[in-house]
Amino acid sequence: MIQNIFLIGFMGAGKSSIARFLRDNYQMSLVEMDEQIESQEGRTISQIFAESGEEYFRALETKLLLSMAEQKNTVVSCGGGVPMRPENVAAMRQSGKIIYLCASPEEIYARVKNTHTRPLLEGNMNVEYIESMMKKRLPKYLEAADITVITDRKSIQEICTEILASVS
Ligand code: S3P
Repeated sequence: MIQNIFLIGFMGAGKSSIARFLRDNYQMSLVEMDEQIESQEGRTISQIFAESGEEYFRALETKLLLSMAEQKNTVVSCGGGVPMRPENVAAMRQSGKIIYLCASPEEIYARVKNTHTRPLLEGNMNVEYIESMMKKRLPKYLEAADITVITDRKSIQEICTEILASVS
């Protein structure tokens, strides 16, 4: 049995696509944190931020992670801000391996530029902003990660093979 895999990384780093591939090809269960929170709340992430504020959303993330303590053989696609809270990192460490998916700001921008689902990027949709936000978050991502996987110019299969080799 594969232990839980927590995918962390910046918005648009490919966490959701990789998580789906692991579910579909390696018989793992999937938890997509943003989707789970949206369905729990009956509103989108953008609505939650606008109506209840970021701190409220962050508390929901922590609650969800803590509720997964007994989960096994699950890949979790984490929201980009999850590793900013030490209690989230501790909860992830308890039940699995933490994989940091690292993509360049240019690659991230190319993936997110036509989307409007991420409140923190609304009005800030440019490479410079993404780069500066990534720089601020990088120490937390690296500190949390058991393994870092560079995703630029790699296929999903290559990335998943690398991840699975590192957790087995
Ligand atoms: C966030 C990332 C988003 C979502 C929310 C905040 C962040 O998830 O949780 O908009 O702080 O980086 P994705 O990383 O899945 O886009």
